[in-house]
Amino acid sequence: MKTVLAALGLGLAFVSCTHSQTSDNQSETSDSTAVDSVAVLALQKDSLSVYLPDVKASLPEAQTVVVKEDPVFFKSKSYKAIPLQVVLDKFIPAYKRLDLKQTQIVFECEDGYNPSMSLEKVLQKKSYLAISDVEAPAGQDWINPKKGDHEMKIAPFYVVYTDVPAKDVTYKWPYNLVKISLSAASKELAVLFPKDDDTQVKGFELFKVNCLTCHSLNKVGGKMGPELNYPKSITEYWQVDQIKQFVKAPTSFRNECKMPAVTHLSEKELDEIVSYLKYMAKHKVKV
Ligand code: HEC
Repeated sequence: MKTVLAALGLGLAFVSCTHSQTSDNQSETSDSTAVDSVAVLALQKDSLSVYLPDVKASLPEAQTVVVKEDPVFFKSKSYKAIPLQVVLDKFIPAYKRLDLKQTQIVFECEDGYNPSMSLEKVLQKKSYLAISDVEAPAGQDWINPKKGDHEMKIAPFYVVYTDVPAKDVTYKWPYNLVKISLSAASKELAVLFPKDDDTQVKGFELFKVNCLTCHSLNKVGGKMGPELNYPKSITEYWQVDQIKQFVKAPTSFRNECKMPAVTHLSEKELDEIVSYLKYMAKHKVKV
């Protein structure tokens, strides 16, 4: 799976009201405010997202770009690509009215991987929507790299940067990308932040960076792996030790398990994640 990307941070969020410059800062003061803004934005959501395969024929003109150190292919690569900003200008022009600092760009990949990052951060770099691999054989758009026996699918789109080093894990390089949407940074905080228990903040941060790209809590997060909080928290039907063991070595539980082993976290960090998951078990929200 996408281990290169898997370890990356994520600030997942829904759209809330940053739709006009004059709107306030949406400090989610009460649950009812949060629900209202989500409802309002559910209505506006379409104008803040683009399903890329549907607009393939009308994409702006692509140029050739060279990525010196591609973190998915582990070498220098050339792509036909369109500056991400030009794609947004054309398909989500409303982004210009948003506060870029408060806005997340969410990438949805076909396989359920859902990384997101600050829109401001993405636009600060030379970010591109790659539409084909210059070295692909005639008649094909992409070359699919192999990872072990597994062939990764890069199509239909891949986000690349020409000025971000491969080792900068704060940038996402989503491939197999189908949809881009913009959302405000407040929903994640409203739903996932341990508001009433400071001791869980570390676990929240660790979960956000290491797990949320693939797993949702209260339905906020990635869809590659199962939801871990709603309606039943994983901590309500798995023993803590088993959760930790699973995270370290999923294939010791399940044959051909699709979750990559997470081996870079210490026991203490795993404990913090599990503790946060237990906290979340007491904070289920149907969103
Ligand atoms: C790259 C995506 C990815 C990441 C990152 C990831 N997981 Fe998973 N996880 C999965 C998938 C996919 C499954 C389902 C595995 C299967 O059974 O094939 C899974 C399964 C699980 C399960 C078993 C749930 C069940 O009932 O089947 C637990 C627990 C779990 N993950 C916890 C975590 C935690 C905690 C983290 C962060 C430290 C994490 N995962 C990071 C993809 C991921």
